[in-house]
Amino acid sequence: MNYASGYHAPVLCNAVLKGLITRTDGVYVDGTLGGGGHTAAMLDELGASGRVFAIDRDDDAIAEASTRLTAELESGRLTILRGNFSEMGSLLEEKGVNQVDGILLDLGVSSHQLDEADRGFSHRLSGPLDMRMDQSQDDDAAELVNQLEEDQLANVIYQFGEERRSRRIARAIVRARPILSTEQLADVVRSAAERDQRSKTLARVFQALRIAVNGELDALDETLLRSTNLLHTGGRLAIISYHSLEDRRAKHFMRSGNLKGEILKDFFGNRITPWKEITRKAIVADESEVEQNPRSRSARLRIAERVEDSAYSVKSSLN
Ligand SMILES: C[S@@+](CC[C@H](N)C(=O)[O-])C[C@H]1O[C@@H](n2cnc3c(N)ncnc32)[C@H](O)[C@@H]1O
Repeated sequence: MNYASGYHAPVLCNAVLKGLITRTDGVYVDGTLGGGGHTAAMLDELGASGRVFAIDRDDDAIAEASTRLTAELESGRLTILRGNFSEMGSLLEEKGVNQVDGILLDLGVSSHQLDEADRGFSHRLSGPLDMRMDQSQDDDAAELVNQLEEDQLANVIYQFGEERRSRRIARAIVRARPILSTEQLADVVRSAAERDQRSKTLARVFQALRIAVNGELDALDETLLRSTNLLHTGGRLAIISYHSLEDRRAKHFMRSGNLKGEILKDFFGNRITPWKEITRKAIVADESEVEQNPRSRSARLRIAERVEDSAYSVKSSLN
């Protein structure tokens, strides 16, 4: 079945269902509801007694998915929650749920967010410098671009965009202030980029600002750490990432149980971790999916299972 809509086309749908859903009467969380594609697919896969709690911090996503999935909402099989997926534990607790059988995070932005010029995410469209996923949040991209010190801006571009010319770009931005539109920012970045690297540099700078505006990596780190206690033994965590900063985190965490990827071993040389990797290598989209949905090209899916933690003591920074 095709779960794509005009709002967003979910990626790697079959692989997500196959790897994530281990019991059809289970309770699952879709931490990134978006247009509701993965949520709809999960609900179809689950039996009548299976449930999905779906979270998003974007009002557009909540409105879109609530309309699309009215019948599932009315039946009580689906509950939609507005908020940050890093608050998943307390959002679920308010609904009387302490542990679940699976969690999906399909990270980053939806096609709708990218394609709506007014949301300010795209360097290809002219719009306000916004980039907030949560429209009720105070600070937007204009705030960062116009208020940060030059070296802070360079650090954002370097750390979250992995852009070598971060200092030069930050200098050009500071000189051109005030910058109020995506178009204006794109022109400034282009002027500071190497001629043959303009598109890549633009993508990196816009990605960096988006990550900073939305605190994306902090939310991911926090959620990875908290997922250990949120999943029942045998429950699964599935992460779809779209760039190396996210994928590295998912890989390290699923391999080692900590964010640094530090492998701890017991006396006998066995790994001490509450996770078993289900995907040793990330799953990527095949040619036909990439052809149908070019945005699936960079998607990488990793899945791990929560295992018994007899030898494991939770040593996360959150406990
Ligand atoms: C790639 S889209 C998900 C698309 C969805 N899987 C579908 O099938 O339509 C990512 C969505 O996650 C939301 N999102 C990203 N980070 C979030 C966070 N920390 N908390 C809540 N929602 C988040 C975005 O607003 C966006 O709607």
